[in-house]
Amino acid sequence: MAATIIDGKALAASIRKGIASEIAALASENHRPGLATVLVGDDPASAVYVRNKIQACREVGMAAIDRHLPISTSEKELLHHMKELTDDPKVNGILVQLPLPDQISPMAVFEAMPEAKDVDGFGIANWGRLFLARTPKELEHCFVPCTPLGVLRMIESAGVNPEGKMACVLGRSNIVGKPMAHLLTLYNATATVVHSKTKNLPQVVKQADIVVAAIGKALFVTADMVRPGACVVDVGINRNENGKLVGDCDFEALRDKAGYLSPVPGGVGPMTIAMLLSNTLKAWKRTIKSASPS
Ligand code: GUN
Repeated sequence: MAATIIDGKALAASIRKGIASEIAALASENHRPGLATVLVGDDPASAVYVRNKIQACREVGMAAIDRHLPISTSEKELLHHMKELTDDPKVNGILVQLPLPDQISPMAVFEAMPEAKDVDGFGIANWGRLFLARTPKELEHCFVPCTPLGVLRMIESAGVNPEGKMACVLGRSNIVGKPMAHLLTLYNATATVVHSKTKNLPQVVKQADIVVAAIGKALFVTADMVRPGACVVDVGINRNENGKLVGDCDFEALRDKAGYLSPVPGGVGPMTIAMLLSNTLKAWKRTIKSASPS
């Protein structure tokens, strides 16, 4: 039977609509959520991602504060920009687009990220709260990184409950793999992370009821690696030899094998942006709560 397609684009559009309505109800001209994006350099893929995030902000009625810094920016200069954004009351969320040029340590950015504005979820303090959470409810106290959160929402939208399932995450990055495995575990799946050094990788993937592919290799996950009926979410964005966007999974081959399958494009990408908006709204609403008399 053909897999049910998990339409991330449609799900993201409905989440964005809900966010826009909340902002319309709560915001005024001078008081609305604001997201600051910081892009260092001109990496074309990063520039597109940041542009899409800025546009999405404006569409839901958020302010977008856009800082585009030259590739030569020093770590000290970047930290100075972060301090300004930290002190700016109009900024509720700060996103420093990764990867950064070699002269800037990502760890310095994670350390400097103010916890209250860490809508991207990679700051040291937020990371601590994320990994110390023992239940999904305890995640309320932190910002869950946007891509894994989007993937989780997609799995839920397909009606797949992770509890008791075998889950396999391909890739161990900070942005996706590591937090993804933690989230699936919190939702009571048995999560395994496989990566470039894993032995017998296809056999491990084949045991999974839920597969999240974030390994960054075009069409890496083939039909023979996937258990019939599995829920497969593809985080990869790669270009094939013809310049066409393709995921980490062989979509056409998996169509008749998986039970649920997300496309590229139109899958995880739009959900990452929707979750960024959702986290920024959460950060803004916290400032309203903390400002109101108790
Ligand atoms: N680069 C690729 N994905 C992301 C993300 O989710 N956040 C940041 N800051 N950089 C990224």
